[in-house]
Amino acid sequence: MPGPISDKTAAASEKNPSQYSKGLEGVIAAQTALSLVDGEKSELSYRGIQVGELAEQATFEETVYLLWFGCFPKTAELETFKRELSAARAVPPGLLSILKSFPKEAHPMAWLRTAASLLSLFDPEAEDRSLEANRRKAMRLTAAFPALIAAQHRLRKGQDLIVPDAKLSHAANFLYMMHGSVPHAEMEKALDTYLILLADHGLNASTFAARVTVATESDIYSGVTSAIGTLKGDLHGSANQRAMEMILDIGTPDRAESYVQDLLAHKKKVMGFGHRIYKKKDPRAVAFHEIARKMCEKAGDLHWMEISDRVEKVMWETKQIPCNVDFFSASVLYLLGFPVDFFTTVFAASRVAGWTAHIIEQLSDNRLIRPAAEYTGLVNQHYVPMSRR
Ligand SMILES: CC(C)(COP(=O)(O)OP(=O)(O)OC[C@H]1O[C@@H](n2cnc3c(N)ncnc32)[C@H](O)[C@@H]1OP(=O)(O)O)[C@@H](O)C(=O)NCCC(=O)NCCS
Repeated sequence: MPGPISDKTAAASEKNPSQYSKGLEGVIAAQTALSLVDGEKSELSYRGIQVGELAEQATFEETVYLLWFGCFPKTAELETFKRELSAARAVPPGLLSILKSFPKEAHPMAWLRTAASLLSLFDPEAEDRSLEANRRKAMRLTAAFPALIAAQHRLRKGQDLIVPDAKLSHAANFLYMMHGSVPHAEMEKALDTYLILLADHGLNASTFAARVTVATESDIYSGVTSAIGTLKGDLHGSANQRAMEMILDIGTPDRAESYVQDLLAHKKKVMGFGHRIYKKKDPRAVAFHEIARKMCEKAGDLHWMEISDRVEKVMWETKQIPCNVDFFSASVLYLLGFPVDFFTTVFAASRVAGWTAHIIEQLSDNRLIRPAAEYTGLVNQHYVPMSRR
């Protein structure tokens, strides 16, 4: 085993100390015209439009169109787009029979990552890297995610799979394929809003992974598969699941303060809090707080809100760390009936629109993404013969 870093290497690594940024904080690693994450103003916009405005007035389908094509669709364009998207919802039959052989209890994100990768084997255009083919594949991927997610959910419960309904919106069809009944308009709107607000977010970790993958001139399926694997981590997409598990574990509002203080005393992260860019507030968290509160009021049960509000207050008063998108959106997904361990897959069902938009953007002006590493190991060492080790 090599010994501790020698003075010689330490001196070598100090030559350019300003060039290394742990976690790439502050490093500009891509140019994008898709979304602007403004930490100072606590704002997020897609193609210059505040996400709050999109959540109130647009649909997920219009938002995806905006991300992929850079403008809003006119009436006929939107109709065609919705028709094409809904036509691509069904999982290819060959893939479906493979999915049925997957272990039912597999981690939902591992399942989705594998299923998304397998999709490429059933796509005759998988290796066509033209812009037109990539747009069609972006559509197929975005359309198929709800079907893949619902398939695991229902197979796990031993239920028949639901055939997608082309008449329903993307959000309504998602809930329909999960639960087997057409959702109430308010539920549809809540999921549609979730899908809009999570669709893109600058150079977040999974989007970066997608761009790095396709920048090697690999294919869009590989890019999306990398992204799903990256989103799976607790510090990124799985924070929504972990936040809900924490809220459920707290159980009653009176336990919230001591629970959080205990986590902090043990130097543990409180899931659904903190952000690399938003230090004052995450605009999406503000929107989800309101949506979750209304849904709880409608359900006549403010229990989860009271716990969540207490956790938020303690985190702010103790650490001045605001909640992020995953904290209150976790309650929204819970109230929509998604199993807690499926929360991150719902995040993926939204973000796949952003990943594919970024992949297409990356390829429009591509250069291999290959940063440098600061070497901190030993230098001038020699092979040690077996007899002298
Ligand atoms: C999102 C996150 C990964 C950002 O990480 P980052 O920019 O690298 O920030 P750091 O992890 O270095 O945190 C900076 C400081 O705030 C603290 N902190 C950040 N988030 C915290 C959290 N959720 N709970 C407790 N402390 C937290 C860190 O412990 C650190 O404190 P220190 O300087 O005393 O060591 C981080 O806030 C986190 O792990 N949050 C929980 C997971 C989560 O919700 N992820 C979803 C993000 S949308």
